[in-house]
Amino acid sequence: MTVEIAKTAGFCFGVKRAVDTVYAEIEKEKARAAEGGAPCPIYTFGPIIHNDEVVEDLRGKGVEPIGLEDLDRVPPGRVIIRSHGVDRRTMEELRSRGFEVIDATCPFVSKIHQTVREASENGEFVIVIGDPEHAEVLGITGWVNGPYTVVQNEDDIRKLSVSEDAKVCIVSQTTFNFEKFHFLVEQLKKISYYSRAVNTICNATQSRQSEARELAARADVMIVIGGKHSSNTQKLYEICKNECSRTYFVQTVKDLSTEDLPFGGVVGITAGASTPINIIEEVGNLCLS
Ligand code: F3S
Repeated sequence: MTVEIAKTAGFCFGVKRAVDTVYAEIEKEKARAAEGGAPCPIYTFGPIIHNDEVVEDLRGKGVEPIGLEDLDRVPPGRVIIRSHGVDRRTMEELRSRGFEVIDATCPFVSKIHQTVREASENGEFVIVIGDPEHAEVLGITGWVNGPYTVVQNEDDIRKLSVSEDAKVCIVSQTTFNFEKFHFLVEQLKKISYYSRAVNTICNATQSRQSEARELAARADVMIVIGGKHSSNTQKLYEICKNECSRTYFVQTVKDLSTEDLPFGGVVGITAGASTPINIIEEVGNLCLS
């Protein structure tokens, strides 16, 4: 049997960078304590990723996820901003309350913050294409310095009231579907003569999905690893299931039995964006055992 792990399985660049930042801060704190320095609590602003094992591991090392509602309760310390980023007021609130902000916002997301800030300062009306409830979108809109709206489908566009001579700047949530983005941009461009669209979709998700599709198409068994509630993992599962009827969705190696595996052929493995490498390797090792 051949076991093939997709190269794009698991953490994307931005998530890896944020998680590495937290572990690096833990190490720095240990070194400081060893030199007799005063302890400084470390927090993450919200769970650093949607993975309970990682969040619990960090909690065991003293890192607590907090929100604005916790600022009265916890002593000030260093707070790490996750890859999704946050709005400007949250940054300011944290700093004004005596917290040191360590910004692990993915640079691709920070670039969108800069784009919408500059666009609104130039008098442009900002339109964000994405899920209005998603933390990344809430963060992006929090850097706009003027009027803006969020749209995620044609219905939202129909309800828009933007004057046809308004200058419009369109950006997207980084994980938005590429084809849908282009379709919505075409609709939006009919509204105003002066629209410009900046494609801010990150290709990490798309690459992970294309590689999973290609691997599942030639695999005898396909394993998709990720959190039950992770929408990007569910999407990966659907893509793989379409190509390979024996596709399993597991959260950890415990959900998999050797009986699920073939005696020969190819086992493909991919994983959602919040799956750490050790969980992927454990599944790979079980397949090889
Ligand atoms: Fe990941 Fe950053 Fe792209 S967080 S999905 S590399 S925008």
